[in-house]
Amino acid sequence: MSSLREGPTTVVRREDYAPPAYWIDTVELTFDLDPAKTRVLNRMALRRNPAVPAQPLRLDGEELNLARVLVNGAGCSFKMDGGQLVLDNLPSLEEHGDAPFTLEIFTTCAPEKNSQLMGLYVSQGTFFTQCEAEGFRRITYFLDRPDVMASYTVTLRADKQRYPVLLSNGNLVESGELADGRHFAKWVDPHRKPCYLFALVAGQLVAREQRIVSRGGQEHLLQVYVRPGDMDKTEHAMNSLMASVAWDEARFGLPLDLERFMIVATSDFNMGAMENKGLNIFNTKYVLANSATATDTDFANIESVVGHEYFHNWTGNRVTCRDWFQLSLKEGLTVFRDQEFSMDLCAEASARAVKRIEDVRVLRTAQFPEDAGPMAHPVRPDSYVEINNFYTVTVYEKGAEVVRMMQTLVGREGFARGMKLYFERHDGQAVTCDHFAQALADANPDSALARLLEPFKRWYSQAGTPRVRAEGHYDAAARRYTLSLTQRCAPTPGQALKQPFVIPVALGLLDAEGRELPLAPEQRLFVLTEVSQSLVFDGVDSEPVPSLLRGFSAPVVLECDYSDEQLLILLANDSDPFNRWEAGQRLALRRALAAIAAPGAVDAPLDAAFIEAMRAVLRHERLDAAFKELALTLPSETYIAEQLEVVDPQRVHAVREAMREQLATALQADWVWAYEAHKDNGAYRPDPLSAGRRALAGLALAMLCLQARRSGDAVWPGKAYQRFKDAGNMTDRFNALSALVVADHPLAREALTRFHAMFRDEALVLDKWFALQAGAPDRGGNVLPAVKQLMAHRDFNPRNPNRARSVIFSYCNANPGAFHRADAAGYVFWSERVIEIDRFNPQVAARLARALDRWRKLAEPYRGAAREAIARVAAQTELSNDVREVVTRALS
Ligand code: PHE
Ligand code: ZN
Repeated sequence: MSSLREGPTTVVRREDYAPPAYWIDTVELTFDLDPAKTRVLNRMALRRNPAVPAQPLRLDGEELNLARVLVNGAGCSFKMDGGQLVLDNLPSLEEHGDAPFTLEIFTTCAPEKNSQLMGLYVSQGTFFTQCEAEGFRRITYFLDRPDVMASYTVTLRADKQRYPVLLSNGNLVESGELADGRHFAKWVDPHRKPCYLFALVAGQLVAREQRIVSRGGQEHLLQVYVRPGDMDKTEHAMNSLMASVAWDEARFGLPLDLERFMIVATSDFNMGAMENKGLNIFNTKYVLANSATATDTDFANIESVVGHEYFHNWTGNRVTCRDWFQLSLKEGLTVFRDQEFSMDLCAEASARAVKRIEDVRVLRTAQFPEDAGPMAHPVRPDSYVEINNFYTVTVYEKGAEVVRMMQTLVGREGFARGMKLYFERHDGQAVTCDHFAQALADANPDSALARLLEPFKRWYSQAGTPRVRAEGHYDAAARRYTLSLTQRCAPTPGQALKQPFVIPVALGLLDAEGRELPLAPEQRLFVLTEVSQSLVFDGVDSEPVPSLLRGFSAPVVLECDYSDEQLLILLANDSDPFNRWEAGQRLALRRALAAIAAPGAVDAPLDAAFIEAMRAVLRHERLDAAFKELALTLPSETYIAEQLEVVDPQRVHAVREAMREQLATALQADWVWAYEAHKDNGAYRPDPLSAGRRALAGLALAMLCLQARRSGDAVWPGKAYQRFKDAGNMTDRFNALSALVVADHPLAREALTRFHAMFRDEALVLDKWFALQAGAPDRGGNVLPAVKQLMAHRDFNPRNPNRARSVIFSYCNANPGAFHRADAAGYVFWSERVIEIDRFNPQVAARLARALDRWRKLAEPYRGAAREAIARVAAQTELSNDVREVVTRALS
């Protein structure tokens, strides 16, 4: 720790918020696009904000070359201060100087040198922009903050042959030829917006187009722009976009407010996608799909990300954030909306439940650890050094759970009413999370939310995952069942003590035969508000089994001393599919923890009762395949590790592997049945039902290959290889390949070689190829050398974020059994990659830096070695603020 050096970092605090000293009403941007030197002319109309004491105008800028500044058409003096352009003798600073004035700024920048992928950059010869959160300042000097909303007119000029397509936000109002083979396009965005929603794209692209008519009768043009060879992978994105438009109108009455709505795909993108007004820019991973190149998971992700960005058009763009501390105002709400969208698209209730289980699994394996680690922060953070570090699972996924709890408290219709009021009040404004919660409460004055609004909002201000302890007591003589609930929340950085949370607990009671006991509606939702409260149920004939937190009604850890018998009853009978799944996970987790704690070698951690219960789920006649696949998948190593005080990642890995092998062997005949019964699904369709069948067949095949590894049997690996060659879609093909790789079968090599040859020109498929190998189970330390070899492969390029993630993140973040090595080589590798990537892309480096967040939990020798590796990164003199903040917090 002594080697830690303080960088020139400043902390930004929420409580320091002050409104801007100036407003920008209009912006006219003219771009002369050139990869080496792009000229940007920025003409703005500004006004002093009379609500704020008169002060100089300070404009943000980064990596810009300033050529000229004119105020009201005349030259003026200015100075530079820490990257900001400061104008301190504006007419506005004289007496009565509140008249509007114009400011003209001429700068240049070098897009081809922009490796951070923030601001204006070039990807495969095409210009793209990324401005959220603070990238616009890399394009021109500006008040780069979301509460400054302006009207934009944008003119793009470029070589016509190299850049035939010129796009920006809003509507195309003019285009034409210029001298020297150049051309131009002029775009006007009819909606005021913060600069983080600005976008431009210029390059050789083709578009899939769709005209639609909205409910109100307006016509709109939808476009999905891709590189010329990718047209055959755009249908699903377009279908998803049409479904999104229809859904937002139907469920929330929110129409598309533009004549034209565009999506553009780029293969160089730091994140998933970006909701720029009318011109969403996407990572190709969330656009391109056809049955030959994309898996069911890809199809589902595309649907939800297309929905997510589209829904931002109202939740984020029409109503935006006052400051970046309010990020969850748009992100939590929009994740909630995209989750609801995907659920509403499910034809069957069982598919809705599967989606919910998947979302909760993400929350618990990614957000719960974040909430318990050094980067823990409230859904609405109080401070940050680098805002890019706060695009987190807490802001997004936990934020969505907070919105979901509000919907639970006011009901689905009450929630729609609240949304309506929110837009009536705040359309066109930049607001805070309080405004949203207030609108929901005000629209539902008789609801529990309105009564409990202030304590409820602790979900926004207090970090950490609450734990709720449930204890049941049955009094046979009085025929009375009492359930006591107690909550607590461990300290998090900067928050030693927490006040009680408002926790909606959806519940039911089952009798010993698994039958649901009748409860009144108000008994089925209990709202825990105190540290400790009891519920009493009268007229109960025998000791019931409580089914608590149904549908995962709050983002908490539920502690309940269920007996195995009770969990088996829930697993076999609960009418709530989430808790049914959860009961199986609890049974498995209990066994994993027992085996981890037991002394000596890991030996047959599973008992007959558990195995029979799993067999019953697998063979069940009414449960659907997707649910079975989830129920038969053991809790992840990360999730198991979170339950431990001290983690030996190798032990966790060994135990989970032993459990998997035992399930593979004990259920061999059942896996054969499952595979045969689910492997054929006719023509490929990415719907949840047939995807579930493929998922179960895939798991079965993986189990059969695993079992074959033990028994030396050659039949199933042979079948998997055949399946790999014959598969009619990527899901089946990749599952077969993965089964061979995971079982480390000799045929895996051959299959991998073939797979690469087949898809050598498909970047997204090659990402899968890399990720599968970097994420493979470790056998005697073989994965790290394989990862190093993959990095030497001609298709590897660390500057492409998708490729870097597919190799480096798949190893460091998603393969604990291979990453945590007793010889510390995994950590050394990690520190080298963080330092290397930080030199050209701090955002990506900072995400990688988080792989060791939970180092304090590790057993020795891992703990000491991890600390050393983090300290090695921290000791670098030239680190970005991004990485510096992460490693500093990790060590503090
Ligand atoms: N706002 C984008 C989204 O959620 C995420 C993003 C953030 C993309 C920052 C790029 C940069 O949907
Ligand atoms: Zn978003």
